Amino acid sequence: MKSLVIKNLKKYYGKGEQLTKAIDDISLEIEPQKFMAIVGTSGSGKTTLLNCMAGLNKPTSGHVYLECKDIYKLNDNELSKIRRREFGFIFQSFNLIPVLNIYDNIILPVNLDGKKEDEEYIMELVKSIGIEDQLKKYPNELSGGQQQRVAIARALSNKPSVIFADEPTGNLDSKTTEDVMNLLKTLIKKLNQTLVMITHDELIANQADRVVTIKDGKIISDISAYL
Ligand SMILES: Nc1ncnc2c1ncn2[C@@H]1O[C@H](COP(=O)(O)OP(=O)(O)OP(=O)(O)O)[C@@H](O)[C@H]1O
Ligand SMILES: [Mg+2]
Repeated sequence: MKSLVIKNLKKYYGKGEQLTKAIDDISLEIEPQKFMAIVGTSGSGKTTLLNCMAGLNKPTSGHVYLECKDIYKLNDNELSKIRRREFGFIFQSFNLIPVLNIYDNIILPVNLDGKKEDEEYIMELVKSIGIEDQLKKYPNELSGGQQQRVAIARALSNKPSVIFADEPTGNLDSKTTEDVMNLLKTLIKKLNQTLVMITHDELIANQADRVVTIKDGKIISDISAYL
């Protein structure tokens, strides 16, 4: 499994009086195959940090190393290849494509990578997620919980090493949150994946192997659960 290391990461927005130090010198080693939760108050810099780690937002300075390779030293083409092949993304709003049916939504990352999906793997994934009867439907025909399950399947469709999730259960009720979390935890265990998840939900953070708390763009606490 690939290691992800963040070194002296800074992301500043604006200038002069408008300057916001969204990320202010963060270094982290993300342990492979573990579940790391990122918590902190609104505006503390969680999304900015996650997006910088995931190759979606270029930092002002600092480094993000995937297997010792600085991803922001790569050209755009190589960086998007890493995003497509190594990373999976789950967001609070499910971001499914309305004109594609569920199956095509799930295999979108694979298709964007110019590949043919591993049908056997996709069907196994879809079954374990419990959406095998929904594949011909369109996103607007599914409930929020079902749509988030589809988004999880989509994030896993290219067998990424790291899943980045930004409050994936933020729009779900507590029962659906529990189902979605159990599913995600089971899948990442089975597929030996790393999960980095932002959450406001203490119950979810308690399930993580490690909880990193951010305040004003800095790490103020970093606690590992020794299970
Ligand atoms: N594109 C941007 N331009 C300017 N400022 C930004 C931009 N994105 C974020 N910020 C600022 O950076 C800070 C951190 O924002 P960020 O979205 O990372 O917070 P967050 O911890 O994810 O908050 P929330 O819990 O509300 O999602 C905030 O002060 C925000 O206003
Ligand atoms: Mg956020």
